[in-house]
Amino acid sequence: MGKEQLSGLSAEELFTRDGGITYDDFTILDTIFTDIDKENINLETILGKGISLKTPIIAAPMDTVTNAALCIALALEGGIGCIHYNFKKAGGVTPDIDAQIKEIKSVKRFENGFIENPVTVSPDYTIAQAIEIGEKNKVGGSPIDTFPVTYGGRPHGRLLGLLRKQDYSRSKHTSLKVRVRMLPLEKLIMAECPVTLEEANEKLWDAHLLFLPIVDKKMILKYLVTRSDIDKNEEYPLATKDEKKRLRVLFAVETRPELAYERLEKGFVAGADGCIIDTSQGYTKYEVGMIKYVLGKYKDKLVIGGNISTKEAYNELDKLGLHAYRCGQGSGSICTTAGAIGISRAGATGVYECAKQNGNMKTIADGGLKQVGDIKKALVSGADCVMLGNMLAGTEESPGKTKIDPESGLPIKEYRGMGSKEANVGEKIRGYSKLPQGVSGNVKYKGSIHQWIPLIRDGLISAFHVLNCRNINELHEKMYSGQIRFERKTIGSIEESGVHDLKI
Ligand code: XMP
Repeated sequence: MGKEQLSGLSAEELFTRDGGITYDDFTILDTIFTDIDKENINLETILGKGISLKTPIIAAPMDTVTNAALCIALALEGGIGCIHYNFKKAGGVTPDIDAQIKEIKSVKRFENGFIENPVTVSPDYTIAQAIEIGEKNKVGGSPIDTFPVTYGGRPHGRLLGLLRKQDYSRSKHTSLKVRVRMLPLEKLIMAECPVTLEEANEKLWDAHLLFLPIVDKKMILKYLVTRSDIDKNEEYPLATKDEKKRLRVLFAVETRPELAYERLEKGFVAGADGCIIDTSQGYTKYEVGMIKYVLGKYKDKLVIGGNISTKEAYNELDKLGLHAYRCGQGSGSICTTAGAIGISRAGATGVYECAKQNGNMKTIADGGLKQVGDIKKALVSGADCVMLGNMLAGTEESPGKTKIDPESGLPIKEYRGMGSKEANVGEKIRGYSKLPQGVSGNVKYKGSIHQWIPLIRDGLISAFHVLNCRNINELHEKMYSGQIRFERKTIGSIEESGVHDLKI
């Protein structure tokens, strides 16, 4: 008797038989005996330049998805966000680069072991001015309420005191000077450089403090260490952090040099860990020119290109030494590119074909991921991680207000394509043509990232368990070797695998 035929299809058979395949068009079969435990499953993915994610999720650079608050929450849960670049100056027409940089700074400041650039005030400011400065310098969406007081209010000036939340009333003391309400130097507990984070932490606990200024021998303020950072460290073991224990963040730049060069310089000075060259068509001279520029100038930073969806484009970008790319064209939930210009590719087919090339770039499956199972399908098609727009829009941390849907009475939030008419008021972004290539709508409110991402992780771990894979590498090996088996879905099977015969 010959070798027994395995159930279903191999990935090669699935993706090369006929037509483009979306995540809805196939399912993965349970053909592998599970003998590993869930505790041994690790979802970590390595992006490059020392950046790895314990949760293989990147938030898309979109103005209804990714600002500082979402980046912070996602990075704490092991993913990473990319700050979009659709900030406009008052009047809503011209790009506001500094507004984007402010968001980057807010993420980098969030969980510093040592806060390198604490927001400081002068003793001669009024409490009202200090409150205003705090409002302008939000951390994780909340205004700063405690400030080192320095000579002239300089960021690294001579330390004169500390103005803490409990030192002033937001109603009674607004007209008083900071010097009147601050904790003066003689009552202040500080530490002197050099000091390790552990030593600073111990001092905070020993003295029952929430804030510890770190100064040099001349009393010049160097850093601030906070108790809430320590608590957060303990609460979020998966957090995506840099070598200084700050959360990691990416930012998007356009392919137009006149804006991108300034953005790049300011974004990297602000501490961003990498950038995404954000264009819907990545197989162009504009994209290639920008990739060469960034790779040449910012050698220690992660550079992500795209979007592409064919092996021809993959091989062109791979030659440049790019670290990672976004794979997906016209597949996003808000995209109308396929209809507008007739260019697109079915999401899973694009990922499979590009990832299979023998290159060095990491594959980020981007667009069309609607549920946790789709993330699993993207990874099993060859992706190293996924980029989410829709699945992260409508979270507590995404920009915009929660509204009530008049029809269902349920909470919703706005979600719009970056090529939509609504997102392209004033100067156009992302190289979209005059014809809109995206739409604007609403998505269901999803609650906090801190509840949602753990659920996604749980679903992914269950899926890895069924396929007996301990990590993404094993998943890819078993897919390429034909051990993981697939089945095309029929209309009947699509219906059968959804909720059916139930009134909800
Ligand atoms: P999902 O499906 O997660 O897709 O909502 C997010 C991705 O869609 C891309 N994007 C667009 N594509 N027109 C497009 O053709 C648009 O207006 C648009 N806005 C975003 C982008 O790649 C994003 O990550």
